Amino acid sequence: MDARNMAIGVFDSGLGGLSAVKELMNVLPCEDIVYFGDTGRVPYGSRSRDTIIKYAQQDVNFLLKNNVKIIIAACGTVSSVATDLYQTVPVPYTGVVSPTAEAAAKATKNGKIGVIGTSATISSHSYKEKLCSINPHIQVFEQDCPLFVPLVENGFTDPSDIIVKSVIEHYTAELKAKGVDTLILGCTHYPLLSSAIGKAMGDGVTLIDSGRATALYTAELLRKNNLETTRTDEGSYSFFVSDTPHNFESNASMFLGRDVKSLVKQIDIEQY
Ligand code: DGL
Repeated sequence: MDARNMAIGVFDSGLGGLSAVKELMNVLPCEDIVYFGDTGRVPYGSRSRDTIIKYAQQDVNFLLKNNVKIIIAACGTVSSVATDLYQTVPVPYTGVVSPTAEAAAKATKNGKIGVIGTSATISSHSYKEKLCSINPHIQVFEQDCPLFVPLVENGFTDPSDIIVKSVIEHYTAELKAKGVDTLILGCTHYPLLSSAIGKAMGDGVTLIDSGRATALYTAELLRKNNLETTRTDEGSYSFFVSDTPHNFESNASMFLGRDVKSLVKQIDIEQY
């Protein structure tokens, strides 16, 4: 098969990577996408480094078995912790940290950037290090938000929901007080909460969605590697999960704005 017409492989611990898939569907509408969400083992963000690396390697192995031409770790946690993974992947590979940090550094006007993410991402300081390497004058304020992923995985994303509102206000209050004008949603689950996060932070704060920044970077990576599809019709999509598809199917259909029910299959990730 012509490598250019193989699929883009995307993985995350669960639903979060769909924020990248949604943007990929807009930016690269003719590309096929194979998605793996490790719903049987979510969350990754509270696990040890060794476990996150082992899970990420299995996720990559599964996607490679599906003949993908490029792999996107659409997971802030994997991108921050399994930083050497790209060295062993035989196809172009990207995480979300670099493209997202670049977008945030461009967006800030007052040089104060907030980063929210899982505990593993925040304690790795991956975004902070990247931002400081882009511009050492940027001030970075970090906050882990361990309750956000369970909210999203359980379908709690409505900004008027009292539970959603109070959890978000709890985690964003300090960043707001620091006067950040730009906030990195450093976990790919968080764009599903972006209207609630935007409300809590107020109008003057720009939210940087790692899904969007990574989709744009992927387009560039495909171009550089001469891997853009030659097809001109809409791409086809398949979704795999490691737990029962039921929850994923309905949440994914709602978030992507299209019915993906017949496209989701369960696999045993421990075999990869
Ligand atoms: N969506 C992931 C991230 O970007 C993982 C969340 C989790 O599994 O804890 O960090």
